[in-house]
Amino acid sequence: LTARSTVPWRDATAMLLMQGYRFVPRRWRRSGSDVFELRLLGERVICVHGPDAARLFYDPQRFERAGAAPRRLQKTLLGAGGVHGLDDAAHRARKRMFMDLMTQRRIDELVALTRREWLDALPSWSRRDRVVLFDEARVVLCRAICAWAGVPLPERDVRRRADDLTAMVDAFGAAGPRHWRGKAARRRCEAWIEAVVDDVRSGRLDVSEEQALDRIARFRDVGGQPLDRRVAAVEVLNVLRPTMAVAYFVVFMAIALHEQPDRARRLRAGDDEDVERFVQEVRRYFPFTPFLGARVRSGFDWQGHRFDEGTLVLLDVYGAHHDGRVFGSPGVFDPDRGPAAGDSGFELIPQGGGGFRDGHRCAGEWITIALMKTVCRLLTGAMTYEVPAQDLAPDLRRIPPKPRSGFAISHVRASASTL
Ligand code: HEM
Repeated sequence: LTARSTVPWRDATAMLLMQGYRFVPRRWRRSGSDVFELRLLGERVICVHGPDAARLFYDPQRFERAGAAPRRLQKTLLGAGGVHGLDDAAHRARKRMFMDLMTQRRIDELVALTRREWLDALPSWSRRDRVVLFDEARVVLCRAICAWAGVPLPERDVRRRADDLTAMVDAFGAAGPRHWRGKAARRRCEAWIEAVVDDVRSGRLDVSEEQALDRIARFRDVGGQPLDRRVAAVEVLNVLRPTMAVAYFVVFMAIALHEQPDRARRLRAGDDEDVERFVQEVRRYFPFTPFLGARVRSGFDWQGHRFDEGTLVLLDVYGAHHDGRVFGSPGVFDPDRGPAAGDSGFELIPQGGGGFRDGHRCAGEWITIALMKTVCRLLTGAMTYEVPAQDLAPDLRRIPPKPRSGFAISHVRASASTL
């Protein structure tokens, strides 16, 4: 027996923009079910919640990504024609190109570049009265990822490129000026990278063949064709742009360290398991990805609900990380909490779930974790700083969130062991 559709007639898009991360979890609690319906951007949408729902959502027989991302996200966060919206053989081929970049040796190289950039920046931070950690982390990450990917970044361009790459991330839950800034930033970034791709293809720019820029510029799709220059730019930006997202997590780590000074002291010893647990709890506790979307490939029934072909389905991510059935006392930041109840790989999904090569799980998850661990070690072991009074609470109504101050620090000093 299939439950009757109870889709509300009133469109909830304005509420989503107002309530941000609280929107989907509130509806979930109110519905009393892990499957509930909404109307968003004028369309009937089914929301699903919980590890079983995540496993369902990542079944490629049931769901596809073609047509899942709204146009406003393509104009800002994602671009058009990239890996996010592909399915089946085309997706597998493109995804392999990304995953082949993620060898341990290459990840270690990115970590080393990031560490060096951070340490090089320390003396200039210590000369300033006040340093905004979010802004400086973006610059460090931008320099490191461009060098790693093979994208030339002249000194005079560093800040504006870091600003544009961040503006695309920052636009993802926005309407109005923040959305327009993201749109303009994408136009500028695509033009920049299209020219760089042309340079690689014409031989004007020589890049090592293990670097993302070279791989993408020379990649041939399932049909044997090279990528259109615009799509190639979108894919290069799929490496550069999400690395800026790590800066939000840098700020979240800094907040957690500030609020738990005993833990910060313990982490200074740099024990790998401690650092890993801390990073994973930051990825669970703090909001970033609110939910993910896919379309029903062909109709099916699940948990008494009808999923008609073509229906847009949203997988709750933030709410899932705060579900007391899965993570005990979810409102408490506790890196020692251990694995989620019934851990099946679909509980902690800040960068998606399921498989990397066959599914849409984030290609940069290993990089993200490695960079977060590196920065955690730098913040606790390589420098000291003070945290002046400021409002550090991330605003849950804003997608993506960050404290208004961007986490200001002062009295930055390199630790004796770093000098
Ligand atoms: C996909 C989050 C960093 C590259 C995704 C997805 C999420 C995500 C939620 C979509 C999963 C899905 O559609 O099912 C994040 C977060 C990051 C981060 C929160 C850091 C804080 C990175 C980095 C890279 C990267 C550093 C590359 C260097 C990608 C790519 C995809 C993706 C290429 C598309 C995968 C596909 O469609 O198959 N990411 N990401 N991400 N991410 Fe990340």
